[in-house]
Amino acid sequence: MQNPIDKIRLTRVRRSALFIAISSSFVLLLFILMGRTDKNKDLSKSKQTRIELVAFHPQQIEKPKVEASAGPLAPPADPVTDSQGPKQSRMEPPKLQQYLVPGDISVVSKLVGNKVCAECHPGEHALHAGSGHARTLKPAGKTAVAQKLNGTTVRDTESPHILWQYLVAGERLEAEQIKDGKRTCIPLDYAVGSGEHGMSFVGVQYSTSLQEYTGIEHRFSYYTRSDHMDITPGQGERDRGSKKQEFGDTGRTMNKTNLTKCLDCHSTITSAKKAGDFDPFTIIPNISCERCHGPAKDHVEAARRGDPLEKLAMPLGVESATPARQIHECGTCHRRIDLVSPSMIHQDNHELARFQPLGLQASACFNEGKSGLKCTTCHDPHGKVSNNRANYVNACVNCHQNPSQSKCKVEPKGDCIQCHMPKRTVSEVFEFTDHWIRSPKKSK
Ligand code: HEC
Ligand code: HEC
Ligand code: HEC
Ligand code: HEC
Ligand code: HEC
Ligand code: HEC
Ligand code: HEC
Repeated sequence: MQNPIDKIRLTRVRRSALFIAISSSFVLLLFILMGRTDKNKDLSKSKQTRIELVAFHPQQIEKPKVEASAGPLAPPADPVTDSQGPKQSRMEPPKLQQYLVPGDISVVSKLVGNKVCAECHPGEHALHAGSGHARTLKPAGKTAVAQKLNGTTVRDTESPHILWQYLVAGERLEAEQIKDGKRTCIPLDYAVGSGEHGMSFVGVQYSTSLQEYTGIEHRFSYYTRSDHMDITPGQGERDRGSKKQEFGDTGRTMNKTNLTKCLDCHSTITSAKKAGDFDPFTIIPNISCERCHGPAKDHVEAARRGDPLEKLAMPLGVESATPARQIHECGTCHRRIDLVSPSMIHQDNHELARFQPLGLQASACFNEGKSGLKCTTCHDPHGKVSNNRANYVNACVNCHQNPSQSKCKVEPKGDCIQCHMPKRTVSEVFEFTDHWIRSPKKSK
C-alpha cells in the first residue's frame, strides 16, 4: 500500500515526466519558461504594485546606489519661474522620454525599445505602431484633440456657472477655469487614451510638502463618438459615491498611489527609479513590446549571435502564451475575474462587457482554460481590433463543429457574434463587445 502522499507525489512525477516527454525537443525552453512562470506566480501574489510587465516586476528593482541616501525623490529643477506668470505650474512639463536607460538598475537596463524589434520583426512592429497600445499616453499638448480644443470654451453641464477655456502651451494643454469672474489655470500634462473611444487629461504636480507627485484627472474628457468634451466618466454627480473628497469642480485629485495606478495601465513602466512609483522623467509611456514580452536585451543579443531558436523564446511567445497566461497578462489591465468585486459579477451587469478577460473566464467555452480558448484565438495581440466578422464566426465554428460540442438549435449557420457576443453600452456612452459567451436567454 502506498501512502496517499507518495501517491500524490507519484502522480506529480508521472505528470511532469509526461510533460517533459511531450516537450522533449524544448527541454531547455521549458526550463527557461518554468523559471519565468514561477517567478511570475510568486510575484503575482504580491499586492504591492500593480505593474505586471512580464519578467519585469519593478518591485524587484533595487534602489539605485546613488540615490540610496537621498531619501524621497528630489523635486525636479524648476526652470519655469514665477516670472512667466501664475498661469504656469511650478513644475517642468514631464518629458515623455522614450527608453531612458538608467545605468545601474539591472532590469530596466535590459529594455531596448520597440525600434530595435522592427529590425527583425517588421510585421509585428508595424501592426503594433498603429494600435491603441502604442498610442495611449502622450504629452497632452501634442495630440490632435488638443489642437482642436485650442482656443475653445466649454460650459460645465452640471455647474453651468463654470466655463473652461483651453490653450495649447507646448507639450501641455492648459485648462483655464472661469468661475465667478475668477480665472484658475490647471496645466494638463498627459493625454490618457488614444482617442479611439476617448481621451482624458491628467496634470501632475510636485508637492513639496509631501515630497511626492500628485495628480489631477481633469473634470472633462474628450468623447470621440460625439466629438466633444463632457464630464469624465466617474466624475459625474451620481458616480462620485463615497469618495466625494477626491472630487472638486476642477477634477479628481489623485494621490501618488492613484496617479501611478492610472498611468500604470497606459505605460510600460511609470518610473525607472523606484518600484511602483511615478517619475515623469523616466516613465516609459505606452504599452511597448516589452511590457508584454519582457525586457529583450538578452533576446536581441542572442538573435544577433545566431543562437539556436530555443534560446530565443520569450514570455508570451508562441509556446508560452497559454490561455491562463493570456488571461493573466491581458487581464492585468483589461481586468480578470479576481480584480473585480464578486458582487458585481452577474449575468445582467452589462458594464462587465468592458472587461474582456473576465468575460472569457466566465464563459463555458473557456472551460477554465481546458478548451484552449484564448485572446489570440480571435485577435492578433499586436494590431487594432479587426472587424472582420467572418473570422470571428470561423473561430466559433472551428470548435463547435466538433461532434462532442453542443450545437446551436437556433441558427447554426448564422452570425454567432451578433447573438452570443453582442455589443453592450457601457457607462452610457461606450460600446464594448460582451466576451461572456452564453445563451442570449441567460441575460436581459
Ligand atoms: C499594460 C496594460 C495592458 C495590457 C497588459 C494589455 N492591454 Fe490591451 N489595451 C490597454 C489599453 C490602455 C488600451 C486602450 C488603448 C487606447 O488608448 O486606445 C488597450 C487596447 C486594446 C485593444 C484595442 C481595443 C479597441 O478599442 O480596439 C485590444 C484588442 C487589446 N487591448 C487587446 C489586448 C490583449 C489581447 C492583451 C494581452 C495579450 C492586452 N491587450 C494586454 C492596456 C493593456
Ligand atoms: C487596470 C488598468 C487601467 C487603469 C488603472 C486605467 N485604465 Fe484606462 N484603460 C484601460 C484599458 C484596458 C483600456 C482599453 C479598454 C477600455 O476602454 O476599457 C483603457 C481605456 C482608457 C481610455 C479610452 C481609450 C480609447 O480611446 O479607447 C481612456 C480615456 C482611459 N483609459 C483613461 C484612463 C485614466 C485617465 C485613468 C486614470 C485616472 C485610467 N484610464 C486608468 C486600463 C486602465
Ligand atoms: C499586448 C501584448 C503584446 C504586445 C504589446 C506585443 N506582443 Fe508580441 N505577442 C503577444 C502574444 C500574446 C503573442 C503570442 C501569439 C500567439 O498566441 O501565437 C505574441 C507573439 C509575438 C511573436 C511571435 C509571433 C509568431 O507567430 O511567431 C513575435 C515575434 C512578437 N510577438 C513580437 C512582438 C513585437 C516586436 C512587439 C512590439 C512591436 C510585440 N510583439 C508587442 C503579445 C504582445
Ligand atoms: C536581431 C534580430 C532580432 C531582434 C532585434 C529581435 N528579435 Fe525577436 N526573434 C528573433 C528570432 C530569430 C526569433 C525566432 C524566430 C521567430 O519566431 O521569428 C525571435 C522570436 C521572438 C518572439 C517569439 C518567441 C517565442 O517564444 O515564441 C518574440 C515574442 C520576440 N522575438 C520578441 C522580440 C521583441 C519584443 C524584440 C524587441 C524588443 C525583438 N524580438 C527583437 C530575432 C530578433
Ligand atoms: C476553443 C473552443 C471553443 C471556441 C472557439 C468557442 N467555444 Fe463555445 N463552447 C466551448 C465549450 C468547451 C463549451 C462547453 C461545452 C459545450 O457546451 O459544448 C462551449 C459552450 C458554448 C455555449 C453554451 C454556453 C452555456 O452557457 O451553456 C455557447 C452559447 C457557445 N459555446 C457559443 C460559442 C460562440 C458563439 C463562439 C464564438 C464566438 C464559441 N462558442 C467559441 C468551446 C468553444
Ligand atoms: C471568440 C472570439 C474572441 C475571443 C476569444 C476574444 N475576443 Fe475580443 N473581441 C471579439 C469580437 C467579435 C470583438 C468585436 C470586434 C468588432 O468590433 O468587430 C472583440 C473586441 C475586443 C476588444 C475591443 C473592445 C470591445 O470590447 O469591443 C478588446 C479590447 C478585446 N476584444 C479584447 C480581448 C481580450 C483581452 C481577449 C482575451 C481575454 C479577447 N478579446 C478574446 C472576439 C473575441
Ligand atoms: C439569431 C441568434 C443566434 C445566432 C445567429 C446563433 N445563435 Fe446560438 N443560440 C441562440 C439562442 C437564443 C440559444 C439558446 C437556445 C436555448 O437555450 O434553447 C443558442 C444556443 C447556442 C448554444 C448552446 C446549445 C445548447 O444546447 O446548450 C451553442 C453552443 C450555440 N448557440 C452556438 C452558436 C454558434 C457557434 C453560432 C454561430 C455559428 C450561433 N450559435 C449562432 C441564438 C443564436
